[in-house]
Amino acid sequence: MQIKKVTDTLNRPLRDLRISIIDRCNFRCQYCMPADLFGPDFAFLPKSELLSFEEIERIATIFVGLGVEKIRLTGGEPLLRNDVHILVKKIASIEGVKDIGLTTNGVYLPKYAKELKAAGLKRVNISLDTLNDALFGEINGRQVGTKPVLKGIMAAKKAGLEIKINMVVKKGLNDHEIIPMAQFCKDHGLHLRFIEFMDVGSTNGWKMDDVITKKEIYQILKSHFDMQPANPNYYGEVAKRYIYTDNGVEVGFITSVSEAFCSTCTRSRLSANGQIYTCLFNGNGYDIRDFMRNGASDEEIRARIIEIWNGRTDRYSEERTAETARQRKKIEMSYIGG
Ligand code: GTP
Ligand code: 5AD
Ligand code: SF4
Ligand code: SF4
Repeated sequence: MQIKKVTDTLNRPLRDLRISIIDRCNFRCQYCMPADLFGPDFAFLPKSELLSFEEIERIATIFVGLGVEKIRLTGGEPLLRNDVHILVKKIASIEGVKDIGLTTNGVYLPKYAKELKAAGLKRVNISLDTLNDALFGEINGRQVGTKPVLKGIMAAKKAGLEIKINMVVKKGLNDHEIIPMAQFCKDHGLHLRFIEFMDVGSTNGWKMDDVITKKEIYQILKSHFDMQPANPNYYGEVAKRYIYTDNGVEVGFITSVSEAFCSTCTRSRLSANGQIYTCLFNGNGYDIRDFMRNGASDEEIRARIIEIWNGRTDRYSEERTAETARQRKKIEMSYIGG
């Protein structure tokens, strides 16, 4: 009888690992964790449930051994966790890591940007959906104006971090801010990403009608600016990028709803409590934390990750319908970051 050999290779590339390090946030963005559902009594994860930095480093090292080159730290708001620079340093020292990014709302960057950069952080993606204070306060659910975020952007710039601004565009909410945001970012040399509003989780009341597509945003931009397409930076790049002809500043689109990019998806996600998600829209993750805490060796963890990755069939954005958006159980964004 022939014994089936457990394969030690991946059947598709795995380049990008996104690690949520905390599920809490100081904001309550209405498209991510609406204030009425994530109120004062909401049970966030206790500390014992979170992966320690040592555990994250160990899992990340195994992922890097499987081909991961880019690591992004997310949340919730990752800078609500203490001493993130220590984790950045650990990750930066893993051989094979080429890029470390952090997705943040920016508020704590004045405090931490310098030490994060010194620890090896390369890039920050900062969420900012409007320049209008009142509207921003309404969107973030905490009545916080734009000033703390703008200060965060300045601090990141001063520290020498590369910056991208993420703007989620929702019809009737902030679509009138497309041009002001584009102008502001262009003038300040900031790379802006317009993100189609997505049906992540099951709490943000998503409807297809709320989505402004890349095509629509592009038309609006084209009436104000001259742009030309930029070549993709790498295989499986999520953003469709353009540059302004007159000053070379970049602007991009994340077209998860209107032009799905699942066929080239090279991303895996690790939640704050140590579950692996192979898609942003998975209902359940695959446990790695308890497996590890129960004594699994690096080899066993590696084999488990290979099994999970090779077993994946995710193509949620290609299959999305109003029905799946409503009915399918999906992990909340605050657990796995973007
Ligand atoms: P970098 O290339 O590392 O800068 O990442 P990025 O351009 O993907 O930026 P970021 O991580 O800030 O993500 C921007 C938006 O794209 C977020 O709203 C994400 O949720 C969304 N996004 C990122 N990756 C995926 C993905 O694999 N699938 C889907 N559907 N959306 C994604
Ligand atoms: N649709 C699209 N993007 C979202 N983000 C959070 N919730 C959503 C959503 N429902 C974005 C945030 C952040 C990034 C990680 O994900 O704006 O920039
Ligand atoms: Fe917090 Fe980011 Fe979610 Fe807003 S989008 S609530 S800043 S995690
Ligand atoms: Fe990847 Fe899922 Fe996003 Fe498709 S929807 S690109 S499979 S994370």
